[in-house]
This record gives sequence, C-alpha cells and structure tokens, in this order.
Amino acid sequence: MMKASAEQGVQCMVATPHFYATRDRVDSFLKRRGAAREALDARMGPDLPEIVLGAEVAFFRGIGKAEQIEALKIEKTDSLLLEMPFRQWSEEDVDEVQKLIEERGFNIILAHIERYMAMRENGQLVRQLLEMPVSVQINAEGLLDWRMRGKLVRMVKNEQVHFLGSDCHNMGHRAPNLGAGREVIRKKLGQASLDRIDRLSEALLFRGDSPV
Ligand SMILES: [Fe+2]
Repeated sequence: MMKASAEQGVQCMVATPHFYATRDRVDSFLKRRGAAREALDARMGPDLPEIVLGAEVAFFRGIGKAEQIEALKIEKTDSLLLEMPFRQWSEEDVDEVQKLIEERGFNIILAHIERYMAMRENGQLVRQLLEMPVSVQINAEGLLDWRMRGKLVRMVKNEQVHFLGSDCHNMGHRAPNLGAGREVIRKKLGQASLDRIDRLSEALLFRGDSPV
C-alpha cells in the first residue's frame, strides 16, 4: 500500500487503525500499533511515504469524558479522527462531540462524512455537527462514486472539506486510491482546490495546525 501510494504522489501517510472502545483497551491498542510501526520501520525504503501514527476512533457513549483517548490523537497534533456511529444519532451523541471540542480542546476530524450524509435519519444532526468547529474528511471513494461525486465536489469547492483520505485497507477492494480521487478534484475544480487541501494536511501534520 505504501508503494502504491508513493506511485500516486503520496509523501506522507497517516496510519489510522480502528479503535473500538467496546472491544479494545487504549494501552493494548498502543502496544499493537507500536509493534506494527517497528515491523514497518524495519522494511522502510527511501522511496516510501513517511508514516504518521493516528487512530480512527469509533464514537462510544462516554467518549466526552474518556481521558485515555488523548493518546489516540494524530501524532504531534490535537486532532482526533472520529468515526460517528452507523445508527440513528441522538442529541446526546452530538453533545459529547461538542464536549470534546469545547471543554477538552480536541480538534475533531469527522471521518468520511459522505457516509453519514447518505443516512437520512441523521440529516438534522449531521447539519448540527457541521455547524460546530469540526474538520471534515472525505474518502476518495466518494469522489469516484457517481452518486456522491457532485455533492462532494460542491463541498470541496465551498471549502467545507478539509482532508481527503484513501481509506486504504489492503491491495484488494480497498486499495490506495488517492491518485484517482485527486484527479476528480483537479478535473472539476482545478489545481488550486487540490493545493488548498494539501496545504491543510501539511499544516496539520508538520505544524500541528488544525483548519478550524
Ligand atoms: Fe471508518
């Protein structure tokens, strides 16, 4: 995946293994992630992207107060990639996210917002969440899907999207696809739109600056 990403022009990858509080503990997660990094370091070559560690933290009730999730921020940033639940959200869920932002100083990056926009039952609460100072991430896959493309391109154009992810998991059905996703943005909106997204990623990863 790193080789394929490098061929698509990627210089730095944020590794965001899933964290599920219902079946994992932060300390054992960090241990496994550390071991994975060591194994990877042993195989690193000069042409491969740099790896920055993070996590994709699945929302859970009580996350607003969970102290240990501090350790799951993207390295050297205050940003946490948060996956909201694929069920009907409640006001309390949105309140917990607000708590993370306002009381605990997290920069919350909402993972793959396009997946929730497709869930009608959460329409109002998705809008409420987007009104808060959150960063928004979409997956390249959404840009490659004709049903989603128009809407997402409009969001990128309106600067409502801050980060573009590959969501790569393997070299099979979830292979690195940033090159193709970026090509959609370049074709529809021009290089300047891509440059804007790249600048936001660079600011986050190399200076710890969040877009909101
Ligand atoms: Fe996810």
